Parts: sequence; C-alpha cells; structure tokens
Amino acid sequence: MRALLADPRVSIEPARLPKLSPSDGDGEGFRSLLTMDPPDHSVLRRMLISEFSVRRVREMRPGIEDTVHGLLDGILERRGPVDLVSELALPMSTLVICQLLGVPYEDHKFFQERSELATRVGGNEESLTALLQLRDYLDRLVTTKTGSPGDDLLGRLITDRLHTGEMQHSEIVDNAVLLLAAGHETSANMVALSILTLLRRPEAVAELRENRTLLPQVVEELLRVHSIADGLRRAVTADIELGGVTLRAGDGLILSLASANHDESAFAGADDFDPHRSARRHVAFGYGPHQCLGQNLARLELEVTLDAVLERVPTLRLAGDVEALRVKHDSTIFGLHQLPVEW
Ligand code: HEM
Repeated sequence: MRALLADPRVSIEPARLPKLSPSDGDGEGFRSLLTMDPPDHSVLRRMLISEFSVRRVREMRPGIEDTVHGLLDGILERRGPVDLVSELALPMSTLVICQLLGVPYEDHKFFQERSELATRVGGNEESLTALLQLRDYLDRLVTTKTGSPGDDLLGRLITDRLHTGEMQHSEIVDNAVLLLAAGHETSANMVALSILTLLRRPEAVAELRENRTLLPQVVEELLRVHSIADGLRRAVTADIELGGVTLRAGDGLILSLASANHDESAFAGADDFDPHRSARRHVAFGYGPHQCLGQNLARLELEVTLDAVLERVPTLRLAGDVEALRVKHDSTIFGLHQLPVEW
C-alpha cells in the first residue's frame, strides 16, 4: 500500500482514473491537491502546508475547546435523547473549518448538504451538480473576499498568493472546495463513530477517565479501526512489479486503506478496537504525496471532543439499539447518519 501510494508511476489525475459509474466525470477541470500529481502538486501543497503545521494547529486548541464546550452546554441544558451527529460532531467540525477558512457558518446547511452529495460513491448527476454548486458558492465568496481579504486562510491565500501571481483565482476556489468538504465531513464522521465505539466499551472509558494520557493513542486506534476515508483511486502510468504481480500502464487502482489497516500481519486482532494498541503506523490518513493535509487538525478535533465528552457526560449512553443506527454505506467517507444518545 505504502509503496504504491508513494510511487511516481502512480497518478491521481482525474482523466486517467478508473470510472466507477457511467456518469463518473473527468474532474470537471478541478485543479486541487487531489487532482494533481507532483511536481505541480508539490508546489501547491507547499503553499498550503504551513496553515496545517503542528504549531499552527496547536494554536487552534483553545478555540476548538470553546466550540466543543459551547455545544455541550447547549446539549446538557436539554433532556435526551439528542442526536450527537447533528448537535455535536457536525457543528464542531463545521465551525472549526469555517473559522479557519473564513467561510460564513450561516451557510452551513447549504454546503453540508452539497458536500454529502458530492462525496457519494461513484458519483451521479446529483453529485456532480452538488460539486459545481459548491464551486460556484466558493467562487463568489473568494471574489467578495478579494476586495478586502481578512486574517483567515482564504484571506491569506488572496494576499500572499493571488496578489503575487503565485495562484490563480480558480485554484484558490477549487482548493477551498476541497478544504471545506474534506475539513468537515471527515472529522464529523470520525467523532460520531469514535463516541459510538467508546459507548460500547465501558471498561475502556473507565480507564480513559482515570488516565487521560491514553487519549492520543486511543485516537490513533479509532482512526485505524474505522478507516473512514477508503477506496483511493489511482492510475498506473508505467509498468510496476510488486509482490510478484505486474501492474500495467493504464491500469486503474482502487486502494483500500481499511484493508491495510485491518491486515493481521501488521495489527494482530486487527478487527478489534484495542485501546492499548500502538496504532501509529496506520494509513487512515493515506500515504505519500497526498497524505492528509489536515491530519494534525483532525487529531486535535477528535482528542478535544472525546476529552470533553468523557469529562462532562459520564453517564452518556446510546438511546436505542445499535442495530437501528443508519450507516453511510453509499458515501466515500464512512460514518453514521445519526447517533441518538441520552445521559
Ligand atoms: C479524521 C479525519 C480525516 C481523515 C480520516 C482524512 C483522510 C484523508 C485521506 C485518506 C487522504 C488521502 C486521499 C488520497 O490520497 O487520495 C486525505 C487527504 C486530504 N485531506 Fe484529509 N482526512 C481527515 C480530515 C481532514 C481535515 C480536517 C482536513 C482539512 C482541514 C483534511 C484535508 C485534506 C486534504 C486537503 C487532502 C489532500 C491532500 C493532498 O492531496 O495533498 N482532511 N485525507
């Protein structure tokens, strides 16, 4: 998996990728990190990477803590059951990415719905329309911000990259679409699945309450076991010999991070959530040039949210049957539609 994801003979360019449905397009001219190979990709990634460094993300901790505690205040004022997807996981990740990018949170219903449609497996007319609507929305936003760029990620790209000619307006827009969608869908799904996993393992929760330093390790294990972003698409541009198999130029690849993360030879008892496992070598954030740009932020969001839930809602439990929960089988980002809880 790692060898292929890092191999320069493996491309992510949309026109080369295997098609998953007849309406699967050629990327509609999108120029974002996830449609470009090195060296163009490397140039673009260098312009964005400082926004997601460990140091920058650490500075976001107090803001994320305030957001999570504010949402929990609202939840705890009520009597259960409450849906933790719509009341905690989704608003948390959306508020965080909106603040980082400089996108108005008031528009959340619009872009949450469009992002969900755009990340459907295989894509269809509806997904494509949703993606183009997101691009339209961000096109208008970046145009408005160009007149008076603020101190947020899009503002900084306008001041430091657009005004210097290093980035085109359309490149800022296309990467804003990626960051906005990738930035809220993924973390929200991961938070909800993580809470569900912990609710089903009271002994792990008791141990975590006693020893909060275990939390970063537990977060890695949750990322591994759920592997929510799966089925990465690539294309082979020149023959590759790997493990006795020849991948031919022109072949399409669909790479399963989940299967790598559940490989028994790498993780014994891989299908089980083991809070004591050191899972740091998982590939839930991918590998190689496209390894998740937002991984430091995602880890922090998870850690802060789980920590606050453990601290403030010790009696939290699932409201209803686990079998009744609706899961996102049709999305490229796995998750739960709802997580009803009481306390
Ligand atoms: C738990 C949450 C997350 C998971 C599991 C996750 C997973 C991934 C994976 C597997 C990739 C690689 C895709 C590929 O190679 O085809 C990726 C790329 C990416 N992710 Fe994440 N992600 C998460 C959160 C985030 C957040 C919060 C952001 C933004 C703020 C983000 C932004 C990105 C971007 C921009 C890329 C493309 C990087 C590139 O091509 O250079 N992700 N993510």
